[in-house]
Amino acid sequence: MSGGEAPPTEAWRTAGRIAAGARELGVRLAVPGASRREIAEAVEGYVRSHGAEPAFPANLSRNVEAAHYTPDSTDEGRLLLGDLLKVDVGAHVDGAVADTADTVEVGGGRRGAHLIAAAREALAAGVRAVRPGGAVDDVSRAVAEAIRARGLNPVRDLTGHSIERYLLHAGKSIPNVPGLSSDRFEVGEIIAIEPFATNGEGRIASGPFGHIVRFRRPPPADDAELARLYGRFRTLPFTPRWARGPAERAALERGRRLLQTYPVFLERSGGLVAQAEHTVRVGPAGAEVLTVPGGPGG
Ligand code: CO
Repeated sequence: MSGGEAPPTEAWRTAGRIAAGARELGVRLAVPGASRREIAEAVEGYVRSHGAEPAFPANLSRNVEAAHYTPDSTDEGRLLLGDLLKVDVGAHVDGAVADTADTVEVGGGRRGAHLIAAAREALAAGVRAVRPGGAVDDVSRAVAEAIRARGLNPVRDLTGHSIERYLLHAGKSIPNVPGLSSDRFEVGEIIAIEPFATNGEGRIASGPFGHIVRFRRPPPADDAELARLYGRFRTLPFTPRWARGPAERAALERGRRLLQTYPVFLERSGGLVAQAEHTVRVGPAGAEVLTVPGGPGG
């Protein structure tokens, strides 16, 4: 790198390393009998102790749950041998957001190995297809082909996305099937590529409302507690589990109409779902993967 690299790019790289470390911790902790609440707290604690903030609550969706499951503070559910667990983690440094995911079969069996391999291969193929000025559709095609090569289906209702400061899903979608996007990549753009592979039909149905929320708009300035929460999370997703004490819990209750609540996404036909995700920067020569671990202490 030349000396002229702007500091903001370093913030994205730092967020990427921290998110990757948190993702790997989550994968290691996903053993039979582990609680999803404890894993979420450990993963989010890792992000904070490394100098970033969680960009969204740890998503620990299991089996037919494709996305948006995070435990609440009373969740005592335990992982079972053979569960297919998606560990989808975000970290941000001053609004520079990294988003990354992997899938683990709890207990290390082989039932989900084919699905996990499909998601990872699709991610690698998608990353290779990124070109500055290139078509988003090239990535979508590479992702879909890799998954179909294993006789599985991409989940067409879930997409990768461009990322901007404090904006997890900025303007651009990166579909997991071709033919849906006419966008192109720009140098310097930050994007998340996130293939989902399933042995079901590849469509999503909204399940019950979960424990992930987001401010739709800023709260009134005369509500100091809500204003403080907005200052902390802005428009990023968060969870009531992060409320610090009864005053913040009451504020979230009061501010309910300002909050959007995310439903848990389920594979519509009951298929199992595996996911893999990296955040990458579109560089002059192609993708720079940001969500890679940083080595000792990183
Ligand atoms: Co994402």
